[in-house]
Amino acid sequence: MTEDKDRHDSRPTATPEVALVTGGSSGIGFAMARELSQRGHEVLVVAERGVDDAVRQLARHTDARVTGLEADLALPAGVEAAAARARELRVRTFVLNAGVGVHGPFARTPLQDELRLVDLNVRSLVHLAHLVVPDLVASGAGRILVTSSIAATMPAPLFGTYAASKAFARSFAWSLRHELDGTGVTVTSVLPSATRTPFFRAAEMERTHIGRAPKASPAMVARQAIDALMEGRAEVATGLQAKAMVAIAALLPQPARSRFHGWFYAPGARPRSTRQT
Ligand SMILES: NC(=O)c1ccc[n+]([C@@H]2O[C@H](COP(=O)([O-])OP(=O)(O)OC[C@H]3O[C@@H](n4cnc5c(N)ncnc54)[C@H](OP(=O)(O)O)[C@@H]3O)[C@@H](O)[C@H]2O)c1
Repeated sequence: MTEDKDRHDSRPTATPEVALVTGGSSGIGFAMARELSQRGHEVLVVAERGVDDAVRQLARHTDARVTGLEADLALPAGVEAAAARARELRVRTFVLNAGVGVHGPFARTPLQDELRLVDLNVRSLVHLAHLVVPDLVASGAGRILVTSSIAATMPAPLFGTYAASKAFARSFAWSLRHELDGTGVTVTSVLPSATRTPFFRAAEMERTHIGRAPKASPAMVARQAIDALMEGRAEVATGLQAKAMVAIAALLPQPARSRFHGWFYAPGARPRSTRQT
């Protein structure tokens, strides 16, 4: 008995699993990085800016190791740097979350902004997944979480490239999940509804209906997303609003989806309760 107990007590502490979170410096990604670190994961935060601040803030909430990498994931070199660091740290959990929005009439939005959105939301997702999936499959274990959106479920006039990029992310995640079935690697997608992050300000959408609408908390989105990731579920729409939007999208014919969803991205008046009298 004693021998068994001693052997048990002298075992080295299990090495923590390492998770990489793209876009972990802010908003939903930051909340997911915090959630993972509080569940005992070592976390590598990858973002274009603000990584040191995020690492400092995360370190205050956890005993787990948190490190950062500044990389522009809209560029192939940034993706390659992230994959190289992931290989060094033997990352087995990937949260592919970094994303931006471009809002406005398509004929007037700057082409370079639209293409940068595609480079980040679509190209970097495929590139990073392509670099890391072979190692995960070879090791027989891994988890991938892809941040899609309820915007994936319907066309979005005035926000069309973004919605299409999120539909791409959702479809890609489902296909990859199916392909990797039986390898020990799971793929999960998360569909948040409008969430309180700097996203709407960055995309200059504060005066739209969706910009002015009540929003979900990043902490709630992160908790439900990481639960789904850890359980290896295919998809989670976070919160009631997201679940309702997915259900509505399934009921509407395509032209009605465009009209319904387009309203959210059109300029909107402030809700009555917040108007100055
Ligand atoms: N907020 C919502 O309502 C909502 C709803 C559904 C889905 N989503 C999705 O959730 C994800 C996170 O968005 P969020 O709302 O949390 O917005 P956010 O607070 O603006 O976070 C975006 C993150 O992406 C990073 N990022 C942006 N451009 C990058 C680049 N070129 N290279 C590397 N990192 C880059 C940002 O880092 P830097 O600031 O350093 O560039 C930041 O960490 C996005 O994919 C978004 O589409 C958001």
